Amino acid sequence: MTDAYSLLILPGDGIGPEVMAEVVKVIDWFGANRGMTFEVGHDLVGGAAYDRHGVPLSDETMARAQSVDAVLLGAVGGPAYDDLDFSVKPERGLLRLRKEMDLFANLRPAQCFDALADFSSLKREIVAGLDILIVRELTSGVYFGEPRGIHADDNNPDNEGGRVGVNTQRYTSGEVRRVARAAFELARKRGNRVCSMEKANVMESGILWREEVQWVHDNEYPDVALSHMYADNGAMQLVRNPRQFDVIVTDNLFGDILSDAAAMLTGSLGMLPSASLGAPMANGRPKALYEPVHGSAPDIAGQGKANPIACILSFAMALRYSFDEGDAAAALERAVEKVLADGVRTADLMGPEDGTAVSTAQMGDLIVAALAAEA
Ligand code: IPM
Ligand code: MG
Repeated sequence: MTDAYSLLILPGDGIGPEVMAEVVKVIDWFGANRGMTFEVGHDLVGGAAYDRHGVPLSDETMARAQSVDAVLLGAVGGPAYDDLDFSVKPERGLLRLRKEMDLFANLRPAQCFDALADFSSLKREIVAGLDILIVRELTSGVYFGEPRGIHADDNNPDNEGGRVGVNTQRYTSGEVRRVARAAFELARKRGNRVCSMEKANVMESGILWREEVQWVHDNEYPDVALSHMYADNGAMQLVRNPRQFDVIVTDNLFGDILSDAAAMLTGSLGMLPSASLGAPMANGRPKALYEPVHGSAPDIAGQGKANPIACILSFAMALRYSFDEGDAAAALERAVEKVLADGVRTADLMGPEDGTAVSTAQMGDLIVAALAAEA
């Protein structure tokens, strides 16, 4: 009897609840068929939490998140919340979770499933077989740096409008070193190559980033091949020849942007999972939150059109990184691949002539059926 795996499910807004419902089917399947015991709690985040509590993440939910092995999050945000004060916007709930759980390493794999290579905006021969991993720093940089704010630009009569908006890009050496270590560790289990991206040509924080990544390499991971690239060149190389990369490590803001570009290479944002990991807890499992890279897609919410695969693959990452259930994770990934190879598609993966799309729930059912068939 293994000990129980505790999960907190935060479906959030928009398509979040729909795609999370399919993940629950998968969790139930592993519980019933693979001898795993899951303790599953549900709670609110984002606009859904704001509607109930007036804040996008209550203190009580924050405490629950700190006490479980892994948080599974759907998506946050929507047009109903666009005019809210910045401090209570849905996104603040997500940022609070990342910051207070200290989830400094955000793993965003971009893999191109063979069955979907033609959905990429790039040519099949450029993306087929693509398998890269972006490791994004998630708890620091310009997202959190102080000073920040919007204030009056006093004593500057030449400034039409009279205001100034400020954010601060700030990294400590320790923050860079710990995310660099995460990237080198992951590279050793893959292609053993890391490319670090920053803007050392214009930013001091970029110079520090480059030097500290190099330091970690030289002192602790000399066996891993390390290269450095300016982030703008990195964006260009990602669309020119993405397969040149294995692991990319970069800061919070560049990682946000580059991971969206990498996601689109694979054909659909609806396919990409992520893991956000922090330091090990007392039971040896890392602090962890898993979420799809896509957003809440309010335009299609509630219509059964959403693709649950990114959220399901995020749970596969939970199996692998939180629970050391690598075989189960691989089985789930194979089930997804099988269903796609069979031609099953949600609406986001359809061309104009491709026939009828399956619903969110049908996709979930078919993935569970493929899991069961594998055994
Ligand atoms: C992401 C999202 C978030 C971010 C938003 C929703 C705050 O774009 O996870 O990539 O900017 O980090
Ligand atoms: Mg983003």
